[in-house]
Amino acid sequence: MHDLNDIARSLVASGKGILAADESNESANEKRLKPFGIELGEENRRVFRDLLLATPGIEEYLTGVILYEETLHQKSTEGIPFTELLIQKGIVPGIKVDQGLEPFPESKDETITKGLIGLPERLTDYVKTYHTGFTKWRAVVKIEGTRLPTAQAIHENAKRLAQYALEVQKAGMVPMVEPEMLLDGTHSRMRAKEVLTETLGTLMQVLEDHAVDMTAVILKTSMVVSGKDTGKIDSPEEVAEDTLSVLMDTVPALVPGIVFLSGGQSPDQATANLAAISKLAKERTAPWPLTFSFARALQEEAIAVWAGKDENIPAAREAFIARLKKVSEALAA
Ligand code: G3H
Repeated sequence: MHDLNDIARSLVASGKGILAADESNESANEKRLKPFGIELGEENRRVFRDLLLATPGIEEYLTGVILYEETLHQKSTEGIPFTELLIQKGIVPGIKVDQGLEPFPESKDETITKGLIGLPERLTDYVKTYHTGFTKWRAVVKIEGTRLPTAQAIHENAKRLAQYALEVQKAGMVPMVEPEMLLDGTHSRMRAKEVLTETLGTLMQVLEDHAVDMTAVILKTSMVVSGKDTGKIDSPEEVAEDTLSVLMDTVPALVPGIVFLSGGQSPDQATANLAAISKLAKERTAPWPLTFSFARALQEEAIAVWAGKDENIPAAREAFIARLKKVSEALAA
């Protein structure tokens, strides 16, 4: 078994990042296939994953891919199990292990993430059968004025993230902890900064309280941007300044890496913001490597070109590689 810190560091290796391709079956259908008029169902979800994972050369840009359980059981169009295909390319397969959201009884407009029941057994199977090296658990933080999020929801989600992280480390994998602060809403960038500070501050404290090995955790975070419904597009410099300042204030130096979700920003916006954050982090000698773990910002253009038609796959793969190249170049800014 590899040392967990080694795996974590390899996932944030300079110039590369992580593809999130772990949409649940429902999200893959409703949010990836349906908007492009692609027929829904298991076979098209498989082709969608094949489009991304079997693209030649992705290993130049990717260290890891987060998968959804269904993909673990599927094969590429050439007949190679997807996890094997990734391992052949030197890419670490990861697995989303939370089981989605449930209402938070103490605050009806908020959710907590479920999936702790039976988790140890599932983790053992993922490692033994599929050789996964890391996992993801996503909590959702919703902003609404000063009413949401509540401190209780932030704390309950942090507690579950810590319980999950402990189990994952016990199973010999690296836990990615993701409290996604949603972009939806009319909140200002300042409010997003305040909420992210509280969210990450609480999470880091709760992880430490649970004795999670902080040298073997990857933090997946949102960037600090104004709410989508404000219509305001912050400059990459503003986003970088506020995002980095939150991270410097809350994340211990011994965390081996921080990765960003794209959160519904356009591919160009997410890429420009990543470039600015990466540049500022170097100027300020931030202690951890920073990289991408985008889903939408990496996939959107490729799916639009594919549109469910086999003959479009080569062009869709070109679009995917072109975006991966831009995102990797952003890290070199
Ligand atoms: O949980 C969210 C995904 O891992 C990242 O997705 O880049 O589309 O926000 P996104």
